[in-house]
Amino acid sequence: MKFSKQKATAKSSSNIAFVKYWGKKDTEKNIPMNPSISMTLDDNLSTKTTVEFSESYKEDILILNNEPEFGDKLKRVSAFLDIIREKSDSNLKAKVVSVNSFPTGSGIASSASGFAALAAASARALELDLSSQELSALARLGSGSASRSIQGGFCEWSGEYAVQLFDENHWPELRDIVVIVSKEEKKISSRDAMKLTVETSSKYKERIENIEKTLEGVRTAIKEKNFPKLAMEIMKDSDNMHACIKDTTPSIDYLNDNSYEIKRLIKELNKEKVIAAYTFDAGPNTHIITTGENAGKITKKLKSLKNTTLIISGVGKGIRYTEKHLF
Ligand code: PMV
Repeated sequence: MKFSKQKATAKSSSNIAFVKYWGKKDTEKNIPMNPSISMTLDDNLSTKTTVEFSESYKEDILILNNEPEFGDKLKRVSAFLDIIREKSDSNLKAKVVSVNSFPTGSGIASSASGFAALAAASARALELDLSSQELSALARLGSGSASRSIQGGFCEWSGEYAVQLFDENHWPELRDIVVIVSKEEKKISSRDAMKLTVETSSKYKERIENIEKTLEGVRTAIKEKNFPKLAMEIMKDSDNMHACIKDTTPSIDYLNDNSYEIKRLIKELNKEKVIAAYTFDAGPNTHIITTGENAGKITKKLKSLKNTTLIISGVGKGIRYTEKHLF
């Protein structure tokens, strides 16, 4: 017997991939072509979501950052809730209220923290008792990168779910300085760009053939807390992914002038000693991976750039639940 009203709230942080997920083996189920490794970020880049399933709702309702949503976003969330309803044999509609800790429309993707929090809150609301691997596999169906936000620290996702390589206490000195250089929506979704890359880029085949070497380099660098080695691998992988994206027909370039300027600044900063790595997802906003010790020096350098906003994050925790609901 199901209760007529079930409610839960979860908080999840975003993550930044050191080895990127790009391309799907199965587009419906979000099965990746290659494994990826990421660092979970902290509360500065997080999403809190309350889900309530109730007989009183005739349709699913979605309120994102205080704005009711009716279009594609609601459709995507509803489709995700359908998966959970099927798993728990429920036909109750839901109200979902979600807030990001970072500014709305900042151009920062919230799908990783968003779907991880939604998966956790809705599974708990419907009393599904899922292991962390099962929760990761569920979040993956909403957005691939969300599979890596269920656990904290450093996670590796391959196939159906992500596993934790090291927890958040392993290397707490690491930082991600997010430089918001553009607030615009992406020109082309990662879903469409991935498909185009797999289908048309000749460089992409080479990327997949060589990815195990990169993954091993990153696993070892994290294990040994070898920052220069990690930084070189991160930059190489981001450059390689974007070279493949540029190699598509038609060619796509997610970076803008500010992104290229930051790349130049980081290369200059690293001349004497490698203290920072740039990495880009499917957009021009830049993530600079560094250590707490060097974060001040880097942010000072970035101050010369016009029209940019910085958000600094440390290594964060996995999913957290709270009774402090959003409604
Ligand atoms: O989770 P999605 O479908 O938004 O894909 C994101 C892919 C990248 O952010 C570009 C790389 C990654 O591994 O996070």
